[in-house]
Amino acid sequence: MRRILVAFLLAVTMVSAPPATSSASVISAASTTPSGSPPATGSPTASGSPTSTTFPTSSTSGTSPSSRITYDRYSLTVDGRRVLLWSGEFHYFRLPSPELWRDVLEKIRAAGFNGVSLYFHWGYHSPRPGVYDFTGVRDVDRLLRLTEELGLYVVARPGPYINAETTGGGFPAWLKNVPGRARSSDPGYTRAYREWLGRINPIIARHQLTRGGSVIAYNAENEYAANTDAAYMEDIQRQARDAGIDVPITHNQCCDASWTPTWATGQGAVQIPGVDDYPQSFECREPDTWGTWGEGVTERLSQNAPAYGAEYQAGAIDLNKAGYEKCRELTGPAFMKVYYKSNLITSGATMFGYYMAFGGTNWGRLAQPNDVYTSYDYGAPITENRQLTGKYDEFKRQGLFVTTTAPLAKTDVAAAPASSDPAVHTEARANPDTGTQFVLVRHADRRTDADRSSTLTWKTPDGTYPVPVQVKGRDAKVLVAGYDMGGQRLTLSTSELLTHTTAGDGDRDVAVLYGTEGVPGTTVLRYASQPTVKVLDGTVRSSYENGALTLGYTHEGLARVLVTGGGRRPLLLLLGTEKEAAKFWRSGDVLLRGTDLVRSAVLKGGDLTVRADLSKAGDIEAFVPASRLTVNGRAVPVRPTPSGSLLGRAPGPEAVRVPSLTGWRTRAEAPEARPGYDDSRWTVARKTTTVSPIKPKTLPVLYADDYGYHHGHVWYRGRFTATGSEASVDLNAITGKGGIYQVWLNGRYLGSAAGGEQKDADSPVNPDPGPGRFPIPSGLLAEGRSAVLSVLVENMGHNDDWTADDVRHKQPRGLVGASVTTTGSGTTVPITWKIQGGAADPVRGPFNTGGLHGERTGWHLPSSPGGDWRPGLPALAPGVSWSRTRFRLDLPRDQDVPLTLRFGQGTGRHRVLIYLNGWNVGEYVSGGVQRDFTLPAGVLRTRGDNTLALAVIAEDETTLGALTLTPVANHRVPG
Ligand code: GAL
Repeated sequence: MRRILVAFLLAVTMVSAPPATSSASVISAASTTPSGSPPATGSPTASGSPTSTTFPTSSTSGTSPSSRITYDRYSLTVDGRRVLLWSGEFHYFRLPSPELWRDVLEKIRAAGFNGVSLYFHWGYHSPRPGVYDFTGVRDVDRLLRLTEELGLYVVARPGPYINAETTGGGFPAWLKNVPGRARSSDPGYTRAYREWLGRINPIIARHQLTRGGSVIAYNAENEYAANTDAAYMEDIQRQARDAGIDVPITHNQCCDASWTPTWATGQGAVQIPGVDDYPQSFECREPDTWGTWGEGVTERLSQNAPAYGAEYQAGAIDLNKAGYEKCRELTGPAFMKVYYKSNLITSGATMFGYYMAFGGTNWGRLAQPNDVYTSYDYGAPITENRQLTGKYDEFKRQGLFVTTTAPLAKTDVAAAPASSDPAVHTEARANPDTGTQFVLVRHADRRTDADRSSTLTWKTPDGTYPVPVQVKGRDAKVLVAGYDMGGQRLTLSTSELLTHTTAGDGDRDVAVLYGTEGVPGTTVLRYASQPTVKVLDGTVRSSYENGALTLGYTHEGLARVLVTGGGRRPLLLLLGTEKEAAKFWRSGDVLLRGTDLVRSAVLKGGDLTVRADLSKAGDIEAFVPASRLTVNGRAVPVRPTPSGSLLGRAPGPEAVRVPSLTGWRTRAEAPEARPGYDDSRWTVARKTTTVSPIKPKTLPVLYADDYGYHHGHVWYRGRFTATGSEASVDLNAITGKGGIYQVWLNGRYLGSAAGGEQKDADSPVNPDPGPGRFPIPSGLLAEGRSAVLSVLVENMGHNDDWTADDVRHKQPRGLVGASVTTTGSGTTVPITWKIQGGAADPVRGPFNTGGLHGERTGWHLPSSPGGDWRPGLPALAPGVSWSRTRFRLDLPRDQDVPLTLRFGQGTGRHRVLIYLNGWNVGEYVSGGVQRDFTLPAGVLRTRGDNTLALAVIAEDETTLGALTLTPVANHRVPG
């Protein structure tokens, strides 16, 4: 995250190498079926002079024809048709419920996205060298089949390094033990990453668009700019090609031009070099501050490839613990309008990845601890609990526009209409084949929230018009002129175009335009002769002169105008406010209005079948020539409207009851702290060397990773023979930010300390990380008697390797120094050590459990552990205790009721690992920012019994606050 840090790192070698290789070219022609429909929906289809847009609803894996992908400086093309790629980032690994992948991907699609950008997480699949798991929640083949079925293009991003604020930046923790610098062509690392690519590439390859799948591009590495190694970058691409990857290869350059190389030219160059833009940065405590990191205009890195905004900020990590709602504000609709639209017109980019569309959860030990906690909500348009927000509405307004308006996929800079008020800025692009213009209108000072009006002198392809415009508050508009809109000709509009469609059998067009509430709008359409204008709703003035029909209105509610005659097929024009625009949905060619979400709509004959979500009973209006409507499998009574649409009312959900959490039983654990505990099967810790660039303070090496314990807690037991004059136990531990460790001597609790960190590569290595001095109570040790020191160290996750320096991600976890010091002489006592951590769960994966006694013996699992469990949630002594309960849910099958576990205010410093049916769904830390923890359906049995097990790690005498199951929403959904 700390982008600034790298100023000095950036004088990295620009590799001198052969000339550019990324010329516009045919990437593949595996089998070309130019007339076959591609698997994508909502993709623009402009090539030369597009007049129509098609939206195939879906295609089925295995039956789709393969496609041919090419590109030039304007855009990607699929089977000769230009594609404006508008994708949102989704991390399957942050949603451990494949059933919910469909839910989220359908929501992403319904927002107007025609693609998703997917990281693939090496460490998530590989607990040990040579061992890979692609089943269950790791079944990425299933994920890619789903994207095919839903008609979403995929940008596949398998790293090997992905960053993403996930443990190790996506590296498996075992890589910490592999000699040689990561993200270089060092032989040790090369063997390791080739192993990963050897597993993931064939899966991606078989899902390429060129083989009838969904993958349209392949991203090599991630923001690879510091300590670069061109041979490595080249080899990643060679591995991909050798595995049959034939789609264009891309790269996402970090942040700004100071990060070089761009991988646009020279050895290691990719075909489509892209840029990541995070103009708002990550200070969610100040959501009104704009553009900390600049204008956010995606730079064109290659003259031969489309400009690509590979990661454009669509949310933020909560770096300073303001809460994700503040991050959503920081990157809210006003920011999205001004920055995304400015970028669209200024850069002419036609490939976008918005990071994140849905953030998800750092369940298990997925988090990289410096930047994130359990929730990775990200302030995204879709919340962690899968709810749609105001940002979603804005994405939909922009997404439907960019994926409807085909000429946008090929534009050059054009003369902008002159603005009578210089404080209102204009900028334009035009399609060289169709002449269609796209004009950006915003405040010259993009930070101001002023209300300004101006008159534009707009030279459209159909003549010059003086038109008034108004920019109210932080806003920007992209206005269109000279556009063949279905069977109509849109000369210009000062309203923004949401979408348009040719309803059903093609006998009329329906278009939705929108603008700021209370602001006037003008729309001009061309006709051969005077058409008939019928205002069905609202107040709209019209005049006709010299072939131009001019409509004047103020954006208020939803006005409806029917235009017939004039030498064209009829047009239903819907003119609304932004809020009204957000009520529309588009599925294929079907335009609908109402409900909380339309997942799909299929028209067959006179039957319209809709899959929709409703939080309450509500109207649903379909702009299609249908006579019957089915919503979520139930026939809905309908009536035709004067707009020629069909209006029905769909039922909402039933009220649901969620049980209170009672019947808790509690048991203390940590037998490891007792001197007599049998640790004979533990691993002896006696290594004297380590691969880590950070060396231990004392020997033996006690780094958990060096003994194969990579995630969660580790226990140490150190034995020594006491002299009786021991004064203190002195420890150093690295836990990752926010971690703690606890110490017992001969079973007596000595206390806890905060785990430390080594510093980043640009800071000096910390000589005293996570120090803890624990005075030894007198009388606890006796001369000549054996003593046992027990230390429990938490591992909060592994650092990333953002600056490719190896020091960060190879930073150890566990004890880095341990001594028992005697009084007087200050000498240290020799200690022999044993270590014990957790093992990878065969189903839930390597990050699920650590080495707590309860985790090692299955107290987190649904099956009932034996032993002496006391009823209730009593006050807890420092150390580790577990509380368990069961609850039963009986939620209706056709309702979606996301639940969270809410922690009330307790007492004492404590942290709680939350296990739901054996799955570690997060860690609550008292005093931390997160109190609500998502319980994802799938892991949560919504119709059946559930087991909740809490491992409470208390630093003081502790009581837990009230624990409640909290419904976040209640929607009727397709069953
Ligand atoms: C980018 C990186 C992503 C993610 C993002 C911030 O630099 O490529 O993986 O870390 O920043 O959330």
